[in-house]
Amino acid sequence: MKKYDNGKFTTKEVGEVITVYGWVNKRRDMGGVIFVDLRDRSGLLQVVFNRQFLKDDFALAESLKNEYCIKVTGKLQKRSESEINPNLPTGEVELMVDNLSILSEAEALPFNIYEDKEINEQIALKYRYLDLRREKLKNIMMLRHKINRAFRSYLDNHGFIDFETPILCKSTPEGARDYLVPSRVNRGMFYALPQSPQLFKQVLMISGFEKYYQIAKCFRDEDLRADRQSEFTQVDIEMSFINQEDILVMAEDLIKHVWKEAAGFEIDYKFPRLTYEEAMNRFGSDKPDTRFGLELQDLTEELRNTSMNVFAGAIADGGIAKCIVVKNNQYSRNEIDRLTDFVKIYGAKGLAWLKYDNNEFTGVIAKNLEPEIQNTIKEKFNVENGDLVVIVCGKPKVVFAALGALRLKIGNDFNLIPENTYNFLFITDFPMFEYSESENRYVTTHHPFTMPESTQKLNDPANCLSVAYDLVLNGYELGGGSIRIHNQKMQSEVFKALGISEEEAKRKFGFFLEALKYGTPPHGGIAFGLDRIVMLLSNTDNIRDVITFPKTQSASDLMCEAPSEVEIKQLDELGIALIKGDKE
Ligand code: AMO
Repeated sequence: MKKYDNGKFTTKEVGEVITVYGWVNKRRDMGGVIFVDLRDRSGLLQVVFNRQFLKDDFALAESLKNEYCIKVTGKLQKRSESEINPNLPTGEVELMVDNLSILSEAEALPFNIYEDKEINEQIALKYRYLDLRREKLKNIMMLRHKINRAFRSYLDNHGFIDFETPILCKSTPEGARDYLVPSRVNRGMFYALPQSPQLFKQVLMISGFEKYYQIAKCFRDEDLRADRQSEFTQVDIEMSFINQEDILVMAEDLIKHVWKEAAGFEIDYKFPRLTYEEAMNRFGSDKPDTRFGLELQDLTEELRNTSMNVFAGAIADGGIAKCIVVKNNQYSRNEIDRLTDFVKIYGAKGLAWLKYDNNEFTGVIAKNLEPEIQNTIKEKFNVENGDLVVIVCGKPKVVFAALGALRLKIGNDFNLIPENTYNFLFITDFPMFEYSESENRYVTTHHPFTMPESTQKLNDPANCLSVAYDLVLNGYELGGGSIRIHNQKMQSEVFKALGISEEEAKRKFGFFLEALKYGTPPHGGIAFGLDRIVMLLSNTDNIRDVITFPKTQSASDLMCEAPSEVEIKQLDELGIALIKGDKE
């Protein structure tokens, strides 16, 4: 068995005869002497092959190439003064080899794994095993392990029980699309992969376990983004006999523990809390990045009675007007025009702007907007020479989406977002429902088992809040949860508000509704997105960097080549025939 870690040798071990294993990281051939950086998981050790000592084995050393896997034995010695490398933990020592075995040869690599520069992601994913040899990815995987361990140690020490719940589940489509698995034994029937262990953890509360956790794989067939994978991991938690405050206090304590244990960061402030409404009004987002200002300001009342119909008309139609004041604007006229295209991506009809220079507003709308209104804008937001005011007016959803995204863009463009700062906050009081234009009905914002603020409020779905919360960090949603409904009557009322008939509810969630009948304790929970936590602690904005074997944007695993076609025989057994189409 391998006894030593290459990256840990110091002058203390000088004089010892040792055997080390690893990969040829780099080699320098100086004629009669060859230097190799021998890499293992822990780091690098310089090993030296000298023709004088090695005799016949020197030819073997000369044949070494990058990434050969080798075993060497020799005496550890202090490096000569000129050879000392202060940048390497083992930089003062080297191994003078007197025995070399090549354990495995390596072909020429498809990409350079020694430099920390971007490589073609398609190739990197195809050869993920080589990609994982890179320092950057190796460190992320080690960090992920520490984060996992920190979660487990906290939860173990606080009386949570680690459970496993099924991967082959019942399909309960709500939220994202399910991944389906056909049943061979029950032809024509399907399992679904869990989008989260939500119902199982609630059932475990009914079973009386009181405190549950699971580091759980979740599967959602949705469009992938930089912070979203179809297969991802949650640290999933549920507790009985608690209220929202208990969960938020525990979640804050747990996250502070993880930051400290896994990464050595002390978070010494109490996580601020914002209601959903306040977050939307101030940042245009329910996952605001609060590391910088540029908050949204309200202009609805100021523009309600303007003669400019683009504003007054939209506001009369139930719209709102919001603006961002950009101090010391650096955008050119052309760049400001391009911001219009940017907000259009989010459904805004346009972007109005006012520049304040030489003590007056300029820009297209400055000619038409009443001087009193311009004056109010100047006074209310303390607009000074050099500032830019950008305005979006329309339906609240569109205004928030457009200005929320524009705020981030301006923050990035002007370098206003400090690095190495962790701004945690909780968002509370989420709306219970949101209206789905495509389905023409209200759907739940979280899931249908979330506790509404009251039964009475269910009659007014547009204004009904829920006892649900999210944990947000630097613009990412790191976790979300809620207090659950624990009585059947309220659960039926929620289904009614969602337009789900008793029969449909029974078909979809029958087992759960039955379970609720047998003494359900008040309970609630939260789930943290483990991948996103690793992303933030390892300073990457690409979720694929933190998942050992990730999928591409089109949900493929390029290394295994999954998904793949299957044999007709397999389909026959399942009673499945493919419809002729793109793929046969
Ligand atoms: P939710 O759907 O909010 O809640 O998920 C919890 C957290 O999981 C992470 N997350 C994701 N990470 C990567 N890729 C994805 N596709 C993805 N989707 C979600 C986010 C998110 O905050 N059962 C509830 C939790 C509960 O109520 O207890 C749930 O799944 O960080």
